[in-house]
Amino acid sequence: MVTNLNMDFSETLAIDTSSIEWTESPLPGVHRRMLERASAESGHATSVVRYAPGSDFSPHTHGGGEEFLVLDGVFSDESGDYGPGLYVRNPVGSKHQPRSEQGCTIFVKLWQMDTDDQASVRVDTAASEWFPGLVRGLSVMPLHQFGTESVALVNWEPGTVFQRHSHVAGEEIFVLDGGFEDEHGRYPTGTWLRSPPGSEHTPFTAEGCRIYVKTGHLSGTGVGTDTGMVYGT
Ligand SMILES: [Fe+2]
Ligand SMILES: [Fe+2]
Repeated sequence: MVTNLNMDFSETLAIDTSSIEWTESPLPGVHRRMLERASAESGHATSVVRYAPGSDFSPHTHGGGEEFLVLDGVFSDESGDYGPGLYVRNPVGSKHQPRSEQGCTIFVKLWQMDTDDQASVRVDTAASEWFPGLVRGLSVMPLHQFGTESVALVNWEPGTVFQRHSHVAGEEIFVLDGGFEDEHGRYPTGTWLRSPPGSEHTPFTAEGCRIYVKTGHLSGTGVGTDTGMVYGT
């Protein structure tokens, strides 16, 4: 049983998720790559989860909220069918019974939502609008904002260089496509990065990339002072 995995938010992490073994879940046909986990089968968890074709899941209530992005395949529940690029937030207290006819892989975060954040969010990132970012070559698609937390997709044209910046209340990135880089390394598709409150870096990309970014959510005190996404909008 995995407990207390990567729950020290003062640590800097850069994990190529494709190198992590798939482990079984309590549900047949459902495997996951665990990135953060407070306790065995409940509480704060961040994972890449893979559902085999024809998977049926037990009905459940989201005691701490559920946020996910469909990486491939189609995830379904009674509210709809969610293909690649669908971004979903199911607030604290929501319930559903998911299934996947053709199978799917999702990046999912559980028990990380403010109880007051009752927004039920569905964004088709394959069809939503991009806005200019803070530097040339950068585009931003805002996904959600609540309190100090901001979530967005950021698209980087090849050769884009961003300015040095700090993450007052932390930053989390999942590389969806291409290669994201900073002075510490190169992060290929599937890399999950977590930078602690107060950390700094200067990101860039040679080949171009698309990333999921969440900022303002890792303050040890629970009080962040970030105001919006660092990359723009
Ligand atoms: Fe769920
Ligand atoms: Fe950053």
